[in-house]
Amino acid sequence: MRALHPSPNPPWAAYLQRFHADRPGITERILNRCHADGIDPYQWCAQPLADRPGPILDLACGSGPMADRLHGWIGTDTSAAELGAARDRQRGPVMRASATRLPIRTGALDTATCSMGMQIIDPVAEALSELARVLRPGGRATLVLPAGGPTPWRHAVTYGRLQVALRQRIRYPNDNRLRPAALRQATTAVGLQVSDDERLAFTLPLDTAAHADELLTSIYLPGIDPARLDAGRRVLAGRIGSTLTVPLRRIVLERTEASG
Ligand SMILES: C[S@@+](CC[C@H](N)C(=O)[O-])C[C@H]1O[C@@H](n2cnc3c(N)ncnc32)[C@H](O)[C@@H]1O
Repeated sequence: MRALHPSPNPPWAAYLQRFHADRPGITERILNRCHADGIDPYQWCAQPLADRPGPILDLACGSGPMADRLHGWIGTDTSAAELGAARDRQRGPVMRASATRLPIRTGALDTATCSMGMQIIDPVAEALSELARVLRPGGRATLVLPAGGPTPWRHAVTYGRLQVALRQRIRYPNDNRLRPAALRQATTAVGLQVSDDERLAFTLPLDTAAHADELLTSIYLPGIDPARLDAGRRVLAGRIGSTLTVPLRRIVLERTEASG
């Protein structure tokens, strides 16, 4: 793959490229089926941007599900396969670029969003700095991220058993950097202010084995032993015909002053 921006962690970058080349649109297929309070996670991500003028830049846009929830959408992603999936769905314009080096003028945008990307983008500090750079003062961005809760205890038990079966915790590279205190510090440093940080438990129906399998596949598990994946599959098989909670976190960022 052409280097869009050299990653400080080449094995992780290569893993991500392969993962999304093999299964473009996987995040959209799962999150489109999640609901809480009558909305899906993408609608939740778009809510704080409802009154904003376009264009709205979507970082790590994947197959572009946010395009259907926002006016004036522009998508960017490093994965050619994901961007191809967006084009196949007549979503555009899209450009292939890393969130850590955006081909966009400083202060050119009022609004941005990033659904399920900041937990994996490497390095996240550069992505936050770029986000601050391209937003004008008074600009706003929303981020949606995986969260550790809220999860009803019965579903927490399933996640616990799943992690035992996988013999690893379900974690993302930037989890520590995105903890509330660390995020506040990192964003303040670049001229962004966290104006809202909340969590919502979405419900994902697992009607079929294929749904359960896709959920398992969607978890980034570099180098996992196939036998561990089979063990994870057996845990999720116990929930087919039922639902699983998918807890998510939504952060609203406001652009304050010019970053140094
Ligand atoms: C979990 S998917 C989310 C896709 C989409 N936003 C959604 O919610 O359906 C993460 C996306 O981040 C992209 N990605 C990873 N690192 C990136 C980077 N440095 N810059 C831009 N996109 C990146 C991947 O290619 C993938 O499409």
